[in-house]
Amino acid sequence: MIRVGVVGAMGKMGQEVVRAVCEDKDLELVCAVDINQIDKEVCAMSEVRIMGDLKAAILSHKPDVMIDFTQPKYVFENAKTCLENGVRPVIGTTGLSDEQIEVLNAMSQAKNLGCLIAPNFSTGAILMMMFAKQAAKYFDNAEIIELHHNQKKDAPSGTAIKTALMMAESGKMTFENGNCAETETIQGSRGGKSYSDIHIHSVRMPGYIASQEVLFGSSGQILSIRHDSMDRQCYMSGVKMAVKYIAEHNEFIYGLEKIM
Ligand SMILES: NC(=O)c1ccc[n+]([C@@H]2O[C@H](COP(=O)([O-])OP(=O)(O)OC[C@H]3O[C@@H](n4cnc5c(N)ncnc54)[C@H](O)[C@@H]3O)[C@@H](O)[C@H]2O)c1
Repeated sequence: MIRVGVVGAMGKMGQEVVRAVCEDKDLELVCAVDINQIDKEVCAMSEVRIMGDLKAAILSHKPDVMIDFTQPKYVFENAKTCLENGVRPVIGTTGLSDEQIEVLNAMSQAKNLGCLIAPNFSTGAILMMMFAKQAAKYFDNAEIIELHHNQKKDAPSGTAIKTALMMAESGKMTFENGNCAETETIQGSRGGKSYSDIHIHSVRMPGYIASQEVLFGSSGQILSIRHDSMDRQCYMSGVKMAVKYIAEHNEFIYGLEKIM
């Protein structure tokens, strides 16, 4: 049985993670931390109560792995607290800088403790990116359309940028081969140009959660690779996979694709 703690346990992702951990026969929820609703039972399936202090939760409950879905401004300190106290962090919170990721990498190696950071825990979304990378070898033209709810503050999405980067790793300099000279009569109509001239188009409207379609074209054919997130449960198989992997490995891992 892997002893699991959750930081940010009362948040939208935290609550989903808490339920997923409680339902898994290989995982035991031993502690839950949040800055809100301290002392409240974490969910109807568990008698674990919310603690306000991460270090105190670690010292009193000794989790093997701590899952973090909090906020960008707290995640770095949380991860350091875990590693300093012998706990393996699994981090879903976005917003870590490259420098912070390097510090965590060095700490994880120095302590010989696993640490996994994944900006996207949706296995389907990761596969969509991996398939797009494969397809990029065979097509000279490609564009990305990403579609999200209208409360998303950044555009394009991190997943779209990462997908373009993975496609560009095919070595192609451009994915707009043979396009004629273009004039935009309405600015932005052709989206933003990213790695290897891959255009990314961002749609924002209520109804969507997180979707992405990667379009490849060549003479006489179109290949469309699409992924749709219907709700937050789409992240849970990836989170559980990460917890089970990192409980048994002493590596630093960035990106769920590294263990798929
Ligand atoms: N990696 C992924 O696949 C993935 C998927 C969805 C969301 N996210 C990211 O996860 C994070 C959380 O998202 P959310 O929608 O659950 O947000 P949320 O605001 O609903 O939840 C955050 C929770 O963390 C708590 N919290 C904040 N600071 C804390 C601290 N220092 N210690 C303990 N608890 C603290 C808050 O009280 C809140 O309950 C965001 O960064 C989001 O971008 C990642």
